[in-house]
Amino acid sequence: MCGKKELPLLMASMICGALCSGGNAETMRFGELLCDNGETLILSAPARWEGKLNGSSIAVEFSENRCRIPCDCKQQNLAELETEIDVPAAGEIRIGCGADWYFEFIVDGSTVYSTWQKGNGTADFGRFNHIFQVPVRAGRHQIRVRLRNGMGGMSFHCGPPTKPPYRNRQPVPTEKLMQALSTLYTSDCRRLSPERRTALQVCQDALDLIEPGNREPEQPVNQWLDSALEKIKREVPAEPVSGNRVVLWLVYNMGVIVKTSGATFGIDICHPRAAELADLLDFAMITHFHPDHFDRKFVEAMQREGFIAGKPVLSSFYPSRHFRKYPAVWQFGDITIRTGDIDHNEMLPNFVTTYEILCGKGKEACTILHTGDGANVAQLNPARHVNILIAHPRPFGEIHFAAEAASKLTPDLLIVGHLQEISHGFGPGRWSYQTGFDECAGLPASVTGVVPVWGEKIIFDPKEGE
Ligand SMILES: [Fe+2]
Repeated sequence: MCGKKELPLLMASMICGALCSGGNAETMRFGELLCDNGETLILSAPARWEGKLNGSSIAVEFSENRCRIPCDCKQQNLAELETEIDVPAAGEIRIGCGADWYFEFIVDGSTVYSTWQKGNGTADFGRFNHIFQVPVRAGRHQIRVRLRNGMGGMSFHCGPPTKPPYRNRQPVPTEKLMQALSTLYTSDCRRLSPERRTALQVCQDALDLIEPGNREPEQPVNQWLDSALEKIKREVPAEPVSGNRVVLWLVYNMGVIVKTSGATFGIDICHPRAAELADLLDFAMITHFHPDHFDRKFVEAMQREGFIAGKPVLSSFYPSRHFRKYPAVWQFGDITIRTGDIDHNEMLPNFVTTYEILCGKGKEACTILHTGDGANVAQLNPARHVNILIAHPRPFGEIHFAAEAASKLTPDLLIVGHLQEISHGFGPGRWSYQTGFDECAGLPASVTGVVPVWGEKIIFDPKEGE
């Protein structure tokens, strides 16, 4: 057994000009060579690769194991990067790669790793995203990488694997999390007390431990999801609502249940047990068909009485009596709903349906605007003053949508949604509570920004503006 060695520059340059100790501007650290004789070497490659974008030659230069390919993200672009490496001994190359957004790694004409179908899986790009090993013989090898852009750009990371950036790794016992939730559930999210801050940090620590897609029942975060659902099932039928007051519960992600004096409805209901919430509701709305907003089992539960007799589900994509491709107005008892279109991003124009919901009649009635993953503030033109705005903080790139929308519409209450969406990988796609607070900093004085947690209830009285 022998330690990891960088190949000495002299020896490397004797083998090939492209192979060296790495670290300067001419070269990059390409991967680890696990030699058949037990040695581990660091392989290098040129920092400049041959490149083509949609068939035209481009300059490709790696800096800190990353290269960016500027392109127009409104369309699909294909880049091909190519270089050669020299391998001093037979063994396996261990490489870490990440890409915005699809890549295929090809060695000597054979694809050895591919994310071509599913993409990178996380917007936290780095050499810790996809780690793989390639058996090689000693000698020169051709490396080709094919890339396709995502909605936000095109980049490629490649080199010896690294660990993901630091995240909390201290276990959070379920009792501690439940205690924190009890503090949050018994306080008002409009008043950010030190106790509330501390409790939110406990929640954040627990969330930082859960990998995307983990549904192990003993995971504290999964117990929280379950207990939030039980709380909502208990509280919604029991909650007395009179006059123009509305009561909201945050279910998960951007999903809320709203109870007024006349009706109970849901928007973007999404939860591992979402179907159980159908019994509580009179009707529901869905902003778009991405799986963190649309839950098929929930919709089927809403419509289990059939296409005609089932409970109304409004959307622009699901076949039902309340499907409308274009903006429409709906009436359910004393609830009036005006729908609108909004871009999710440049590649998905008018992809999201916004819901402007007037709860009751008269001047004092409360208006809720849910904008889903909407990203274009210019498309928000509500007919009335918005009392409660539910918005995404970063639906696309660096846009601060919730803050911008709140500045334009000056709602009484801004609920920053889409935080802690744990089906997303760690990184920018899983927005933290701090992102929510950042979004609330600098709002117009008349707007109260809040960051509720799953299962939390908010009582709103339009007369008091809170
Ligand atoms: Fe989303």
